[in-house]
Amino acid sequence: MIFINTFRAMKRSSASTILFLFFIILLAGALCFWIDMSVIVAVPLSLRNRFTGRPRTSTEFSLNCSNQSTTTSCVGANESSAMACPGFFRWIHEDLRPWKDTGISRDMLERARKHAHFRLVIVEGKAYVEQYSKPYQTRDVFTIWGILQLLNLYPGKIPDLELMFRCGDKTVIQKHDIQGSDAMSPAVLFQYCGHSTALNIVFPDWTFWGWAETNIKPWKIVLEGMVEGNKKIKWQDREPYAYWRGNPHVSPNREDLMKCNVSDKYDWLARLYEQNWGKEREQGYKHSKLEDQCTHRYKIYIEGNSWSVSEKYILACDSMALLIKPEYYDFFSRSMEPMQHYWPIRASNKCKDIKFAVEWGNNHSVDAQAIGKAGSKFIQENLKMEYVYEYMFHLFKEYAKLLRFKPKIPAGAVEVSSESTASSLGGLWKMFILESVVKSPGDALVPCTAPPPYDAHTLQDLFQRKENVRRQVEMWGDEY
Ligand SMILES: *[C@@H]1O[C@H](CO)[C@@H](O)[C@H](O)[C@H]1NC(C)=O
Ligand SMILES: *[C@@H]1O[C@H](CO)[C@@H](O)[C@H](O)[C@H]1NC(C)=O
Ligand SMILES: *[C@@H]1O[C@H](CO)[C@@H](O)[C@H](O)[C@H]1NC(C)=O
Ligand SMILES: *[C@@H]1O[C@H](CO)[C@@H](O)[C@H](O)[C@H]1NC(C)=O
Ligand SMILES: *[C@@H]1O[C@H](CO)[C@@H](O)[C@H](O)[C@H]1NC(C)=O
Repeated sequence: MIFINTFRAMKRSSASTILFLFFIILLAGALCFWIDMSVIVAVPLSLRNRFTGRPRTSTEFSLNCSNQSTTTSCVGANESSAMACPGFFRWIHEDLRPWKDTGISRDMLERARKHAHFRLVIVEGKAYVEQYSKPYQTRDVFTIWGILQLLNLYPGKIPDLELMFRCGDKTVIQKHDIQGSDAMSPAVLFQYCGHSTALNIVFPDWTFWGWAETNIKPWKIVLEGMVEGNKKIKWQDREPYAYWRGNPHVSPNREDLMKCNVSDKYDWLARLYEQNWGKEREQGYKHSKLEDQCTHRYKIYIEGNSWSVSEKYILACDSMALLIKPEYYDFFSRSMEPMQHYWPIRASNKCKDIKFAVEWGNNHSVDAQAIGKAGSKFIQENLKMEYVYEYMFHLFKEYAKLLRFKPKIPAGAVEVSSESTASSLGGLWKMFILESVVKSPGDALVPCTAPPPYDAHTLQDLFQRKENVRRQVEMWGDEY
């Protein structure tokens, strides 16, 4: 994306340049949209030095969950339980499988450094960050914030570890590039998504703690809002069309989807809208509120640059999700089943498949509603914030078991804490992290019990089953 790259370059220059760019982009009618848009905001300048450890002028304050004026959504210590974890926790073992027999050596870690935005070190419950470069917007800040909250939630329970984290959209370590001796000892990198041809460990994305640049609040708050919002318009009373709102210009796949919009000539039963983030900001994000976007019986999910954080918001609507065949996966999506949680759509046959799905759904409203409900339930139950933390907990635990070296704090690293992060931020950025702060729970918290790894046979069956269902739906579509 040109805008993103331009913005990145500009961000390093002065604030006035950024304002200038902001206006240029507005004037040019550059459309910064829905989820994967390039929002232009000057505020992140204040974040630049946040890990340098330099004293800041802003007032220090202590994070306090009982301070109702700032912290509306503290995750309480007792919200979790010792029950079985959701099934998607099994994928932790799949992500770590390449290192299962060899373990992870320091060399494997260091070889991932060239791809990483930062190194995170946890030693004795404290977190240290060595920053290598700035990712887009404030993804790194919110991710590190999430890890700090994890440390608050499980004091004394997070093992010492070192990891390399990349905040970019695309996967970078390709299986087929790894040759020779490296094939036996691939580099180890954390990212927000994975791909069948790539090799990396998948970690929850930053939006679980909020996406200040688009005014999307921390997930816990959004989810509560959506559960309430869903009650407002019953499925039968929703518009009988497939809805999508977003930025079509991030990928050819999305541009292609725009051809399915309703026109004078044809109606594919899709209602597609471009999100203009510049306008949205001016109008106080009136049209981009997620809980107000559950107005249609069907909601389309389509990947952007790679996977899109919009998936969970789209699925949580109680509308039947039409999933345009994704290439990437995030930490939970591999456990979703076609026709149970969503309706699969071919990327190569979008318009026809969408029309068929919508018509089918309107003819079989009980079934369509059930798929919508099951998809929402999957998200609302399995992706509760408590489970997101527990996923991180189990992932770190399993990851640390594989480390064949003693984690140590590098010379260039800076200790980070909730307090230091919070006091380095302002505006929405600060508001959002405070809304997702976790109070130290004491010792009462018992994490859920993680499911065992898949055996190769079960895993094969699972892929086969999904593939069969997809094929079946394609056949219906072709016959239609
Ligand atoms: C948290 O804030 C409340 C009121 O805002 C105060 O009564 C309490 O002492 C504070 N607790 C801590 C640990 O600072
Ligand atoms: C509580 O929040 C208010 C408003 O942001 C702030 O002024 C106050 O210092 C906070 N109190 C504590 C104990 O953090
Ligand atoms: C949390 O759980 C502990 C042990 O089960 C219990 O004693 C305590 O009252 C609970 N606290 C809250 C706030 O529910
Ligand atoms: C799709 O069609 C609707 C109705 O004509 C229109 O309002 C909307 O702007 C169109 N969307 C795009 C992306 O062109
Ligand atoms: C839906 O019902 C209409 C009217 O009975 C029918 O013409 C159409 O083929 C049906 N479509 C699907 C996909 O079931």
